[in-house]
Amino acid sequence: MCGIIGVAGSAGGTREVLLDGLANLEYRGYDSAGIAVDGGASRERNAAARGGIDVAKKEGELSALRRALVGETIDGSVGIGHTRWSTHGPPSDRNAHPHTDGAGRVAVVHNGIIENHESLRTELEAKGVAFSSDTDSEVVPHLIAEALARGADPEAAFREAVSRLDGSYALAAIVEGAGAIFAARHDSPLVLGIGDGANYLASDVPAFLEHTRDVVYLEDGEFAVLTADAWRVEDASGEPVEKEVQTVEWSAEQTGKSGYDHFMLKEIHEQPKALRGCLRGRVDELDGCVAVEGLDGLEAPAEVQFVACGTSYHAALYGAYLLGDAGVATAAYLASEYATSQPPLSPDTLVVGITQSGETADTLSALRKARGRGAETLALTNVVGSTAARECDHVMHLRAGPEIGVAATKTFSSQLVGLNLLIEELLPDASRGDVRELVSALRDLPAQVQEVLDDSRAADVVDEYFGAKSFFFVGRGVHYPVALEGALKFKEITYEHAEGFAAGELKHGPLALVTAETPVFAVVTGDGENARKTIGNVKEVEARDAPVVVVTDGVSDAAMYADSVLEIPAVHERTAPVLANVQLQLVAYHMAARLGRAIDKPRNLAKSVTVE
Ligand code: M6R
Repeated sequence: MCGIIGVAGSAGGTREVLLDGLANLEYRGYDSAGIAVDGGASRERNAAARGGIDVAKKEGELSALRRALVGETIDGSVGIGHTRWSTHGPPSDRNAHPHTDGAGRVAVVHNGIIENHESLRTELEAKGVAFSSDTDSEVVPHLIAEALARGADPEAAFREAVSRLDGSYALAAIVEGAGAIFAARHDSPLVLGIGDGANYLASDVPAFLEHTRDVVYLEDGEFAVLTADAWRVEDASGEPVEKEVQTVEWSAEQTGKSGYDHFMLKEIHEQPKALRGCLRGRVDELDGCVAVEGLDGLEAPAEVQFVACGTSYHAALYGAYLLGDAGVATAAYLASEYATSQPPLSPDTLVVGITQSGETADTLSALRKARGRGAETLALTNVVGSTAARECDHVMHLRAGPEIGVAATKTFSSQLVGLNLLIEELLPDASRGDVRELVSALRDLPAQVQEVLDDSRAADVVDEYFGAKSFFFVGRGVHYPVALEGALKFKEITYEHAEGFAAGELKHGPLALVTAETPVFAVVTGDGENARKTIGNVKEVEARDAPVVVVTDGVSDAAMYADSVLEIPAVHERTAPVLANVQLQLVAYHMAARLGRAIDKPRNLAKSVTVE
């Protein structure tokens, strides 16, 4: 999704800060990028020439923008930058942000969607305003310019423009000569970075992490004004809002690649550490009990509804399986379908939003609907200070560390572990067996993940099946979400056709697709009923000549029916999905690497999907 960076710095030289900030936001996914600067060198230069703010923007990768800036003296003491992920109008130089008014005195970057942009555009055009892009965002600089022309000061002009907007927005604007950035937030994240001699603003903390870790999260309806040495936040009526400055734990190093070819591979290898982070201080190995900070006051719910999207939805399916096993009424909903489903809510229903970013619009909307209907809500998220974390009644953090690759990897593993902890905290008898057994299985998991990472044959398996037509993934019970996740990861980064199925569903339709050209990955662990039945399904596809890859712990004889085997250690039923999934992450990664795909920024996708 779109990314925003802004910097107000007295020393000038904001251009490189903006470009580096945009580079830090590349992981969100984008199709064009741009910057606008004012003050300092830019102002002196423009005073002598045409006047106005300097803007540079380009379709394509950030490198195209950098190339366009070679030899240009564009720089300034305040600036804003943007990476755009198209919603209104195709990717192009003209549709890239920042957008300006006709005179080039105002520049604006925007994340979100201005729903009433058509009527505003018609109104402005009737007054003679000429538009230069197809975007919804361009109405904003023109509205600001109109208010300035009527004599409003820059801050008042910005506020007036914002008051005309319907929809969602994180907005940042600069006005020629004002020496400040004006910002507003409604349904799209915006965070301030408080520095020494410079202040920052961004859609996401990694944008400015090399400059400051002191942050202030804006809430919906808040406005901010930043200069080089001051910042303030006000509500919609202009009243000052006291904001807490928080220090984020993530460091700039954590958001680098540390020598790996891709963030995704780095994050796959970070899983042992991420899981230790999730478990730290939450399990008592002596007593065999679980205690999640901040959740002790939460009553055991009679029913749990999960809402989530994509990978997080697969974690929700796993969570629903655990709760169902513990006899608790539960369901996992795709967040985008939750409003339509309108499932009944009782006073004892807990609605749990699982969201790595804490900013996914569909999930936030489902959580808000649930809250609006009186339900208690809990966010299971990786991002401290995210919207989900702030809006829900309760929050549990994954503590997986920053995830930059668009493909969710370490956060999925952490979600599965986090769900075990959450469910034990809420329903201490949920494991139905020995809690000590579960606690010790969770404790051993990081080392077992390391073992899988060290010994995986995933790259060889990819060599064997390179060029196949389609790839299918099947599993049962706790491995059904793993099959879905294996297929999602595979299609997301390889662009090859992949589908995940409940193993038992194959014969109800998908089997028609199975041929010698469609490798089937089957997850089989233990030797219980699910394993036996999945082996039966493996035989069904084998009989149709499909190559079979089993991900197995070797407890059953599944390997006998396989053409290739990806081994995992024999572990607790609840932790086996994490290990099986690591093998499938590596399969997806190696296939995408062999195909030369843009692994960290797959086409058309974004890390944090902030539109519904
Ligand atoms: O930040 P969230 O967990 O709410 O994101 C939800 C999905 O957009 C996300 O899991 C997506 O499916 C992943 N990029 C897949 O790897």
